[in-house]
Amino acid sequence: MEPDPGVDTEGADGNGAAASDALPDLKSSLGREDWSTWPVYEAAALGLPGSWWYPVMWSEEVGSRPVGVKLLGRNVAFVRENGKVYAMADRCPHRGVPLSLGNQQFPGTLSCAYHGWTYDLETGVMVAAITDGPDSPICGKVRVETYPVAERLGLVWIFIGDGKGSAPPVETAIPRELLENDFSMGGRIDVRGGGWRFAAENGFDEGHAKYLHRTSLWRMFKVMPTWTKTRVIPTDDGWITRVQDEVHMDATFPGLGTWTNKRWWKLGGNIIHTKPGKAAKKVDPVIAAMDVPGNQHIRLPGLLRIVHTRFIHYEWYVPADEDLYRYIQVFVEFRTGTSGLLFKLRYLGAIRWLFHGQFTGQDGWMVNVMDAPPERLYRPDVSITRWRALCESAPPNGLAIPDEADAEPEAKPERKPRSRARSR
Ligand code: FES
Repeated sequence: MEPDPGVDTEGADGNGAAASDALPDLKSSLGREDWSTWPVYEAAALGLPGSWWYPVMWSEEVGSRPVGVKLLGRNVAFVRENGKVYAMADRCPHRGVPLSLGNQQFPGTLSCAYHGWTYDLETGVMVAAITDGPDSPICGKVRVETYPVAERLGLVWIFIGDGKGSAPPVETAIPRELLENDFSMGGRIDVRGGGWRFAAENGFDEGHAKYLHRTSLWRMFKVMPTWTKTRVIPTDDGWITRVQDEVHMDATFPGLGTWTNKRWWKLGGNIIHTKPGKAAKKVDPVIAAMDVPGNQHIRLPGLLRIVHTRFIHYEWYVPADEDLYRYIQVFVEFRTGTSGLLFKLRYLGAIRWLFHGQFTGQDGWMVNVMDAPPERLYRPDVSITRWRALCESAPPNGLAIPDEADAEPEAKPERKPRSRARSR
């Protein structure tokens, strides 16, 4: 494999020994001073170029009363009428009042709270200025931007960005296994600080889980490796995947001693294994059929997938502004009926707090305090540089699967989860 730009492999010979006895130079220790190697990524504080489907909030959060949400640096108003969700720019062109403060005075419209300018939900055209009478000459001369909206997985999705052209089917943004199988899910949506790019990098980061999360309650009884050697390879459906070539449960550091995550109370079990099918005697059949070469996957515009033997964890990083992002976690088990109901109870009683709360809260802590560039990357950071390289190839039409960009997507009916838990 070719060396990755920005990843230090020199002197990293596997035992941590320094290449020489001389002290490292302080200036070179600062490493990379900017992200100019990845110009698209560097400029993407408010999201990647083009327009993309992003999940925003739970479907039941949108009713006939408008809801304002910050996305990609813009304010967007969502409102539901006759079961359908609409989205438009959350700013009245008259005097800049948020349209989400308004309400519906006529079917198919949203009226501003201040002077009653009234906008068509489909087109965004101002169809009435209530306080200027039916013959108002400004009527029809003003428009606000509207956005394509869809509902899948119990979430409201929006197609938004700087791209031109029509939106591809929302199914292009949803992992295939969630379109083709029944499942139960639990989820949690938070607005976090630190920026969507740091959040995505943390999600796909090779090095941190086995160290940062060793103190998490979620991993209390499961031992994790000390270190690994990893490749990142492209896989299907636009994913790139981390593949572990070596997994070391403990290591002796010259002059320092031995370090391991093993404790007498921790059982076997390993979040990082080469293939789920080899990691447990009983693998969920849907997950086994996926036959993934590694557990950690990421794809554009910022969707992480962690495949375990019995469940899959997903997380979306949706830019709100340059600092804030919507952190959408979804935990899926491919079970329904009574089994799905029991999963829901487990999610609400434990998983939501231990995994989607305390465990990923440790991630949120780091994302919020990280300060880079400058940055001095090390060998495991191949995961980060490969992710950035993937972002450089972001297609402008927002299709996460470039090879299928021209193909007519097969119409697939939505499979509604039988049970789903949520928190706000
Ligand atoms: Fe909206 Fe005046 S600010 S109608």
